[in-house]
Amino acid sequence: MISRLINGDRLEYTPIWIMRQAGRYLPEYRRIREKYDFLTMCRRAELVAEITLLPVKILNVDAAILFSDILIPAQEMGFNVNFVEEHGPLISPTIKRKEDLDRIVIPDSEAFSFITVAVKETISVLPPEKELIGFSAAPFTLLSYLVGGNSKKGFSELRRMMLSERTFFDRLMEKAKKAILSFAKAQAEGGIRLFQLFDSWVGVVSKELFKEMVLPTLRSLVTQLKNMGMHVIYFSRNSVHLLPEIQTLEVDAVSVDWLLGLGEYDRLLKGKFPLQGNMDPAVLLSDKKTIEREAQKIIEEGKRLKGHIFNLGHGILPETPVENARFLVETVHKLSSS
Ligand code: CP3
Repeated sequence: MISRLINGDRLEYTPIWIMRQAGRYLPEYRRIREKYDFLTMCRRAELVAEITLLPVKILNVDAAILFSDILIPAQEMGFNVNFVEEHGPLISPTIKRKEDLDRIVIPDSEAFSFITVAVKETISVLPPEKELIGFSAAPFTLLSYLVGGNSKKGFSELRRMMLSERTFFDRLMEKAKKAILSFAKAQAEGGIRLFQLFDSWVGVVSKELFKEMVLPTLRSLVTQLKNMGMHVIYFSRNSVHLLPEIQTLEVDAVSVDWLLGLGEYDRLLKGKFPLQGNMDPAVLLSDKKTIEREAQKIIEEGKRLKGHIFNLGHGILPETPVENARFLVETVHKLSSS
């Protein structure tokens, strides 16, 4: 459905999926998680397929997103990655100086053959009308973890490099891009045709530095992803200041957060893209009346866009009641088809 929308078709209703829809707010997910380590879950095709399908069955969302993580490439790049409950991801050893460049492995797509297998397995069990979305981090966001571990230190450290060790930063971006392309290629080979680039942390960069040192790598990455036969959705947040530059990217849709209305985002992006978003995840912690009212506002604004994919402005919160997420999907389908 989302690919049809990107191709310019008018749809019967607004399609909806939810970032982090296969996650800890689902008791079914938590039950599987009790038995396995997170990274094992990401590597076992039958578990990937089972978890990817959970929100399709439970919420009736219109698309599935592959169960994996943006930090899977970090493992294949030679970093230790650990997911510790309550701490989030822990990455070691982090990148500190130029000499560390040499120990960063650039994996080829074969290193991610487990992803290709998992994508094929997932597509084989997914109802044909539901699209499977693949994803990776964008280079800056991947580097923020490789430099900072999982602390916010990575952001100031990356900005320091951008300001005073430009060649080092450029080489890091290039290595991150290559690893991301291998991860993406493994997904494309499994049959992914729609791909979301998560640039969750890029908003910490000034417009000037973004334009000079992030955008060129992003542009080349997007071109190469499209050459693999995939449509590309670009996600960033807290990044209103970057929209005049983001607008120059040749992506197929832009995913926006809830800080502005969809109409305002559309104006800043010059009406060029279908937009994805943009409900505040906190709305799903409220009540049905509030969810309905907020959904209605977003659907109305969405009707005036080139295209609208309903989503939250960022990932669903772990404390979200499943019933509220289910109600949102039903409400979006109902209100947008009338
Ligand atoms: O959206 C989906 O349902 C598909 C799977 C998916 C996961 N992570 C599974 C996951 C996706 C698309 C991601 C993307 C991701 N991972 C991002 C970009 C989106 C964003 O939130 O900005 C980022 C920054 C990460 C890195 C990451 N992975 C963090 C910070 C954490 C821990 C904190 C958290 O919010 O969960 C993870 C772990 C993770 N990734 C879990 C899941 C289901 C929870 C793992 C667990 O069960 O302990």
